[in-house]
Amino acid sequence: MKIITVVGARPQFIKAATVSRAILDHNKANPQNLIEELIIHTGQHYDANMSDVFFEEMDIPKPTYTLGIGGSTHGAMTGQQLEKIEGILIKEQPNYVLVYGDTNSTLAGSLAAAKLHIPVIHVEAGLRSFNMQMPEEINRILTDQISSVLFCPTQTAVDNLNNEGFKNKNCKIINVGDVMYDAALYYSAKSKKPKTLDIDSDFVLVTIHRADNTDDQERLNNIVNALNEINKTVPVICPVHPRTRKMIANLPVAPTFKMLEPVSYFEMIWLLNNCKLVITDSGGLQKEAYFFKKYCITIREQTEWVELTNAGINKLVAAVKSSIVDEVSKNLTNRNSLSSFDDRIYGAGNASTEIIKFLIKL
Ligand code: UD1
Repeated sequence: MKIITVVGARPQFIKAATVSRAILDHNKANPQNLIEELIIHTGQHYDANMSDVFFEEMDIPKPTYTLGIGGSTHGAMTGQQLEKIEGILIKEQPNYVLVYGDTNSTLAGSLAAAKLHIPVIHVEAGLRSFNMQMPEEINRILTDQISSVLFCPTQTAVDNLNNEGFKNKNCKIINVGDVMYDAALYYSAKSKKPKTLDIDSDFVLVTIHRADNTDDQERLNNIVNALNEINKTVPVICPVHPRTRKMIANLPVAPTFKMLEPVSYFEMIWLLNNCKLVITDSGGLQKEAYFFKKYCITIREQTEWVELTNAGINKLVAAVKSSIVDEVSKNLTNRNSLSSFDDRIYGAGNASTEIIKFLIKL
């Protein structure tokens, strides 16, 4: 079986790491039934600390093709990736194309494959924010529509697909759990303190990178003002996405909290393990906060991870200074107990091996 995996952005490297490792384990145990995996890296994320460090640290096989297409508008990025990936698929003739999540690289990879009648396998299928203003929502809906095998991370994701009529489509839908949970369990022993950090615990961990927040000056200004205020009582540590750094430089307010360069996955695990709580607008970090039993404040209007908001351990908060500051102070003194929470909603931490078990039966 020959599979081409398409990745391009930071969270996809983490997801692909677990599945690629499961493929290698399968190949070691089954030399007569090998899965050949070739990786295409679109180049959507290209800075060393947004890309290379993940491949090195997590032992992800070196990409066979590196396209170097990133840093442009959505249409240009997706279109250029589509054209290049199509050429590779025609040359390589894989049995399947494997894509992850909801980025422009996911859409380019799945569209190129579907038009060539190569079945698409979508890992992290069925998630919805129900906000069509988000580029990720467009990417995930379109990718699901043209996928043949949809690996869902939660029952909510399966329900979303059923509600959209996928039951009557000629595709397979399987809830295998979340590959991000596999990664958190497997790599947590390797956590590493970021070199430039001078405290060991009791800080608030923040990441902000969604266009909704970064590209709206008023929202970003409110967020920075809130973080400055919180930083007066508890240290705020923020690994900064390149987009956010650019936008913060143009604000009337200057950040007084600690900004780090983007951190590696092992460093992020260390930060999650040692922080008091998490503030984010990232999809992945909301779950990782939960994996590491931390309360999460999400600066967004919707989330795909409704299990966490329903359980009261993730709170959606508007990009308003007082709302963010109040929510933090409530949860620094009165922390929710995460112990009673069902820790199987994201599966058993074996999503990647379940994926491989299913694929070899195809
Ligand atoms: C993308 C994904 C998002 C995912 C996120 C994780 C889409 C639509 N969005 O958003 O789902 O959660 O990745 O980080 O695909 N940039 C750099 N250096 C880099 C990478 C990006 O400077 O290594 C700059 C780009 O030039 C651009 C901005 O950061 O100006 C945003 O990058 P982009 O790839 O458009 O999307 P993300 O916000 O990272």
